[in-house]
Amino acid sequence: MKDLLILGIESSCDETACAVVRNGKEILSSVVSSQIEVHTKYGGVVPEIASRMHIENITPVLTECLEKAGVGMEEIDAIAVTYGPGLIGCLHVGVQAAKTLAWYYQKPLVPVHHLAGHIYANAFVEDLKYPLLALVVSGGNSELVLLKEEYSFEILGQTQDDAVGEAYDKVARVLGLGYPGGVAIDKLAQEGKEHYTLPRVHTEEELDFSFSGLKSAVLQLKAREEKAGNELNEADLAYCFQHTVVNQLMDRVKKAYELYHPAQVVLGGGVAANSLLRQKMTEFGEKKKVPVILPPMKYCTDNAAMIALVGTVAYRHGVRGDLSLGPDSSLEL
Ligand code: KG4
Repeated sequence: MKDLLILGIESSCDETACAVVRNGKEILSSVVSSQIEVHTKYGGVVPEIASRMHIENITPVLTECLEKAGVGMEEIDAIAVTYGPGLIGCLHVGVQAAKTLAWYYQKPLVPVHHLAGHIYANAFVEDLKYPLLALVVSGGNSELVLLKEEYSFEILGQTQDDAVGEAYDKVARVLGLGYPGGVAIDKLAQEGKEHYTLPRVHTEEELDFSFSGLKSAVLQLKAREEKAGNELNEADLAYCFQHTVVNQLMDRVKKAYELYHPAQVVLGGGVAANSLLRQKMTEFGEKKKVPVILPPMKYCTDNAAMIALVGTVAYRHGVRGDLSLGPDSSLEL
């Protein structure tokens, strides 16, 4: 069978990325240009700056990606691009680049959903089995997704307010840990112990999430300790926050598992790099004797290899876009 070469393009937030993947398995190249250093100065991603940086970066990233893969555009079979969700100006750059290439080289265009990319990043580790339960947790999303079969997505639960990564970043700001805060809290939590308690969050829908109240609870706890003249133990607070968040995530995963009995459980998104979440997911898999796949650390953050991979699946399912394709910042799965 002839090889299938898919070019993936990703620009939904602050990473400009291109990748070439062969037959939905083999990464020939994956280039990611991160803007994190620039946004760190502002304590978060500045959409206007991010869009401009994507414009500057897209051509060099694409050129490097093709060079590293050792292929020319003529050899590419289709172009997969993230068209949502994400920051609208950022998405525009990737979509425009993909459309231009598709038009100039007369190649099929395959629009894909960013979260589908995070889910399918796990296929780099192991073949996916269906029904599949996916927990996708990042700076912009917290979703529990069921795939009854390949490339079919059903949202079982989602956040009612902040995304998990957003909660990590906000609490990190409260603790003066800088941006992005996920890694810093994760590290600090490992030095902490059980000492504080934060309230358990209840949601109307049992598989939904809620994280905004936790940030307020952290602020209140900090104020309470200050008022009482107690020195705040930041490591213990990070420990408590991390355990409260991961307990909520695992509670929903367990409930969804009991309801749908998936053949496999996968994790995806930036927060999939979290040490406690990875540990709890592994323990859960061992206990329930269900295969759990954790994405390799380099595929937790945004990248285009996962877009090329899910693009390959979408291409095989006949998904096509035309030159009227536009970005959709709140695209549903
Ligand atoms: O998927 P991603 O790269 O992009 C966005 O959706 O923005 O996720 C980034 C998010 C940030 O909020 C960051 O703080 C969080 O993932 N994050 C973590 C960890 N590493 C990154 N959160 C908790 N623990 C981590 N180890």
